[in-house]
Amino acid sequence: MNGPSNAVTKLATLVERVSGNVIQPGHFPFLAETARQRAASLRLAGVPEYVRALAEGGIPGEWSALLPHITIKESFLFRHPQQFAALACSVLPRLAAARSEQRTLRVWSAGCARGEEPATLAIMLAGCREVAGWEWRILATDVDEQALAAARQGLFGERAVSQVPAELRVRHFTQRGDLFELSPEIAGRIEYRELNLVQEPLPVEAASFDVIFLRNVLIYFRPEAQRRVAAAVARALAPGGALFLGPAETLWQLSGDLEPTDLGDCFCYRHPAPPGVLCPDSGLRGEGATQRTRRQSEPCEPAPARIPEATARPKERTLTSRQRDTAAANDTPPAGVIPEPGARCPVPGLTGTRQLLADAAWSLAENRLDRVADLVNQALLSDPSDPAAHAIEGFLHEVSGRTQMAIASHRAALFLDPGLFQVRLLLADALRRLGHDQRAALEYREVMAALAAGTARPLDSLAGLPLPGAGEATRRCREALLGRSGDGDPTPPLR
Ligand SMILES: C[S@@+](CC[C@H](N)C(=O)[O-])C[C@H]1O[C@@H](n2cnc3c(N)ncnc32)[C@H](O)[C@@H]1O
Repeated sequence: MNGPSNAVTKLATLVERVSGNVIQPGHFPFLAETARQRAASLRLAGVPEYVRALAEGGIPGEWSALLPHITIKESFLFRHPQQFAALACSVLPRLAAARSEQRTLRVWSAGCARGEEPATLAIMLAGCREVAGWEWRILATDVDEQALAAARQGLFGERAVSQVPAELRVRHFTQRGDLFELSPEIAGRIEYRELNLVQEPLPVEAASFDVIFLRNVLIYFRPEAQRRVAAAVARALAPGGALFLGPAETLWQLSGDLEPTDLGDCFCYRHPAPPGVLCPDSGLRGEGATQRTRRQSEPCEPAPARIPEATARPKERTLTSRQRDTAAANDTPPAGVIPEPGARCPVPGLTGTRQLLADAAWSLAENRLDRVADLVNQALLSDPSDPAAHAIEGFLHEVSGRTQMAIASHRAALFLDPGLFQVRLLLADALRRLGHDQRAALEYREVMAALAAGTARPLDSLAGLPLPGAGEATRRCREALLGRSGDGDPTPPLR
């Protein structure tokens, strides 16, 4: 090793090998400073010596000390509330009906940070009357042992609980000074365990979880690691079970084992077998495999649905540390993700993800779909919070006939920038094609409302693609909502 800068590059490679997390070159100064501090606290001569000792496994327990500085812990309770609303009102009732004989549910929060996500899941399940009296458990795992230690204390700061609906905060938390303590009944349902998702084989039983939350973790990995983790996590899902990713993540090109399922305001991936079918390896083996029709029962508490979406979404955008983190790295895609030598940049002067996306849009217009896929992957790795990257991914799915995946990508783009009216129009069209008329009508109306209110924004980076302008979009929305009559086939209006 020749010097500190080589040592830092090597450290980034080690971190990725051990934890999957890609450190963008723009963050190398931060990594160097962290390594310098670690070396000093271990009384090592400097960064090169620290990295060498780490690589040789010569500092016991050092990964546990280093990873908390490297991994991103951004989280809060009821983050992405639309997913918890869909869980309570759509996913859990269906699973509860299928598991009504064994009366057990297993949930896994993978990459649980300081316990915000598993606490929210436990609060949701406690409010779901259909599983009242059942044996339901939540496994919460993370690679960061310090975060797990904090999670086990069940104490959250004001910001972490700021999105918890008031009545749930009163019911499930006790205020202790500036902190909020999770009630023992809720905390007792959660088991915390250290688990590195890139470790192979993953130490979880096959088909053993009915619901898995793997949110905002894969975005930090390279596609190869994403694929391995997605496949392993899909294996852990029980028949009929549901996997939730972060709203800006999809399983496209990562796993074809699960079915993308639109849930209205968000998306999940379902195990394709019906929930009553038990796999030979399932932790639920031998227990009531019969699938039953759903009992009439009281509905789940729709608590998170009451969180006003309009306030939750922008807040999410300002809180996404990834956006902060990737902003610096925008102009410096990591090694191996630079466009092919000789690749044409259709808009001179663009750099980084802007260039990748401009080139992707151009390639899409030329129908070079493999190249589009490649460029979009590169752009998403460089900046997963760029709505244009998700939008082009959606276009690619559209032209490839993958309507469900297109819907997932459109929703991801709109989650990041709700004002993109052309993407919303495509989402509405796709929903309509799949027969989700009510959801489609909502989206058409939202396009018209945004255009009328002046909050609609066109996509940039997409020169060369035939995107409708504001006038054309309004005409298409009207036509869809009111129906079209004339010389051609009349189109019935949406309700
Ligand atoms: C941004 S937080 C997401 C927290 C939560 N899932 C959410 O969406 O609010 C990402 C979490 O993934 C964890 N993580 C990163 N690499 C991991 C790995 N290889 N195995 C397990 N967890 C990992 C980090 O420690 C961090 O707690």
